[in-house]
Amino acid sequence: DGDTFKYYADGQWKRSTSGNSMTVINPTSRSTYYKLSVCTKEEMDHMFDAAREAQRAWARVPLWRRAEALHKAAALLKQNKDVIAECLVKEVAKPAKDSVTEVVRSADFIDYTAEEGIRILSEGKCLVPDSFPGNERNKLCLSSRIPLGVVLAIPPFNYPVNLSVSKIAPALIAGNAVVVKPPMQGSVAALHMIQCFHLAGFPKGLISAITIKVADLGDALTTHPAINCISFTGGDSGIAIAKRAGMVPLQMELGGKDACIVLDDADLDLAAANIIKGGFSFSGQRCTAVKIVLAMDTIANKLVEKVNVKVARLSVGPPEVDSDITPVVSESSADFIEGLVMDARQKGAKLWQEYRREGNLIWPILIDNVRPDMRITWEEPFGPIIPVIRIRTIEEGVQHCNSSRYGLQGCVFTNNIHRALIVSDAMETGTVQINSAPARGPDHFPFQGLRDSGIGSQGITNSIHMMTKVKSTVINLP
Ligand code: G3H
Repeated sequence: DGDTFKYYADGQWKRSTSGNSMTVINPTSRSTYYKLSVCTKEEMDHMFDAAREAQRAWARVPLWRRAEALHKAAALLKQNKDVIAECLVKEVAKPAKDSVTEVVRSADFIDYTAEEGIRILSEGKCLVPDSFPGNERNKLCLSSRIPLGVVLAIPPFNYPVNLSVSKIAPALIAGNAVVVKPPMQGSVAALHMIQCFHLAGFPKGLISAITIKVADLGDALTTHPAINCISFTGGDSGIAIAKRAGMVPLQMELGGKDACIVLDDADLDLAAANIIKGGFSFSGQRCTAVKIVLAMDTIANKLVEKVNVKVARLSVGPPEVDSDITPVVSESSADFIEGLVMDARQKGAKLWQEYRREGNLIWPILIDNVRPDMRITWEEPFGPIIPVIRIRTIEEGVQHCNSSRYGLQGCVFTNNIHRALIVSDAMETGTVQINSAPARGPDHFPFQGLRDSGIGSQGITNSIHMMTKVKSTVINLP
């Protein structure tokens, strides 16, 4: 079928021998927009064999040449930003401007990674032995970082390009090969991004992109014996992957329930603006979205009023015209979000806006007077709804945040830096933002979650470290 996108292996775009295809549904029109190949187990095995072989040679390519190739891919990505952004608009309904931003951010990510790789990987260590009891000065230990081998990269639908690149670039600069399994919605954007790496001239087999039916081949992929590292961003399926992974280093980022704690001395305009940005950007479909507001009851009414004024100003519609709120990724996601709203309403929460849905498009809502028995208190909606809980003490807010099974980020709004630091210290999350909404970037900052939010740490420097190992050579002197 000429309309079906090919997969990428051996430095070529290939048609799968399965002859089968699967569809990418446009979340706005809810009709088929693109078709993808369904790869076979044999094609997958071949990809891993080729990756292993290409990786051995790539690890010996001088570091400056690896960096040069990455810079080329980054430049190509920037040149092709509009085409790739268009795919994001159609596949995941990301607003047009944000789609372009995602591609540019990805190119910047690659450039920075190439530079950071040069810095980190050019450094080694030399240890002398006689600091440890019983040793003489009769040997030297030289250590430097070596690649892990083949990295399996599994990015999510909400950043199909950026969260692919944030795995591919550190893997490649460190001398690894990569097999990418793009998210179903977002595959075509990711395949276009892979074409930029293809045009940049990376050796054949070093990078592959596989499109599979996860129900059929997902387990075989994530437990493949050729894998030396898994970098995954997504939902709870990551927990199952981690349990089955075996002796393989993992970098997992599995979502969050980021709390926004607003104290009684906070700048409420600043807090309201950040609740809007943090809660409703990309219609709440970010792992770092503000997913619960914990407001001191002395200022809660004022805060809610300010947020409501801003909610009324949000535009709701298709991504092509840069609406603030766009359709969520799938019908099942919209149904799930609706279920959370109905549950809260039925249990007595106050909906400040009327609940409205057309297809996958859900109008933004602030849900007030939320209580612990409501699902929205604990579950991650990944949609344009923000629950508010009123708290009497700071401790109550912190305790709520720490009771979540997630621990990605959190934020606190206050004009008292001492209180901010005390809250930050007490919040059990990977990052706490003071007076700003949670966010992963800038992309060289460490990014990590506690509990079910993940394993390991990301950010450019940490990813390069994570995708390498220390290797030592000990010279024993005569
Ligand atoms: O969805 C998960 C992303 O890692 C969040 O990234 O904070 O840049 O939106 P972001």
